[in-house]
Amino acid sequence: TTTIEVGMLGLGTVGSGVVTRLHQATQKIEQTQGFRLHLAAVAVNHLNAPRSVTLPIGTRLTDSIQTVVTDPQIQLVIEVMGTVTTAKQAIITALTHGKSVITANKDLMATAGAELIALAQQQQVDLFYEASVAGGIPILRTLTDSYATDQITAVAGIINGTANYILSAMTQGQSYEQALVAAQQAGYAEADPTNDVAGWDTAYKLIILSQFAFGQGPSLASLQPVGITTLTAASCQQAAKYGWQIKLLAQAQLAKGKLYCRVAPVAVPLGQALSQVSGVQNGVAVTSRAIGSSLYTGPGAGSTATANSVLNDVLIAAQHRLTHTAGRAFNLQKRDLPVASLAQ
Ligand code: NDP
Ligand code: HSE
Repeated sequence: TTTIEVGMLGLGTVGSGVVTRLHQATQKIEQTQGFRLHLAAVAVNHLNAPRSVTLPIGTRLTDSIQTVVTDPQIQLVIEVMGTVTTAKQAIITALTHGKSVITANKDLMATAGAELIALAQQQQVDLFYEASVAGGIPILRTLTDSYATDQITAVAGIINGTANYILSAMTQGQSYEQALVAAQQAGYAEADPTNDVAGWDTAYKLIILSQFAFGQGPSLASLQPVGITTLTAASCQQAAKYGWQIKLLAQAQLAKGKLYCRVAPVAVPLGQALSQVSGVQNGVAVTSRAIGSSLYTGPGAGSTATANSVLNDVLIAAQHRLTHTAGRAFNLQKRDLPVASLAQ
């Protein structure tokens, strides 16, 4: 059986999940794909920190990113460490060395995605980032593959698990602070949760989601997200009493050749499906000409669900390497639409 050597940057919530999922899926991968994935090396920040997973025998743990992204044996690099500057440099080095890259890093893909995608295409390797939006929901591939001939007119999503968890918990009477700590303990929040609660994480994901849905994303500067930091348990409970659920929504809507975008808390009536998406669940409502309205829901954050999206990307990138079809899989049709803000 052919073995594909894999390197990984990061062994936190998502990285640990990748180790677990890879272990669980080893046999299935060999049986269904006809190749084996071997985790050759993992880079971390604190070499001696306690770990929640045991690495397979033969996997090298290192604090040198460079040795992973330049290792000639490694064909595929998984970036699940976060950060923008360090991760960007690591991915550029990996791509330049001819490796396929899988990342869960929305901050990076929303702000420097075009440059990295261009480099991947130039190098004829894959750069996939399914896990960067809506964690375990395969939304980017669904938008790419299942809407290939359709025209999407609107997307509306709950795409931050931490914020949705906090809003749901506050509706049940927990305080904002209690709920945030619980979301952090569950591994849903970013290392610094500011982006989760201030709307920036949702804004990054809306940029990526829009690129897949419309071939054009809003700029970060045009979004000016409104977060959930000023909301209280009392306001969530008051809204619920009158038949509304407060949700942090990402919205992008095509109207008369213009893309209207917004990230803000919205009182969603109980009759609307998105109002029922609670806790760490995410939900993306897609409206298109041929299908009409569809709702995709599932876990939006967390270790194994997110890692599953990463592992699926790894499998596809590995198949592409073996069939020499890497670097050709980007269906993002480029558009140049004017972008405006929906009224807050
Ligand atoms: P964690 O903070 O749990 O883990 C980060 C890991 O990266 C740690 O193992 C850390 O090492 C390592 N790391 C950080 N900086 C460096 C560095 N400079 N050099 C080497 N290793 C480094 O993060 P998550 O697993 O939660 O998130 C990882 C990425 O996945 C982020 O981009 C996040 O936005 C994204 N993501 C997270 C989801 C989630 O549910 N948590 C869901 C979807 C995407 P050490 O352990 O030694 O400190
Ligand atoms: N912190 C993010 C969230 C992780 O809560 O949604 C998933 O991208």
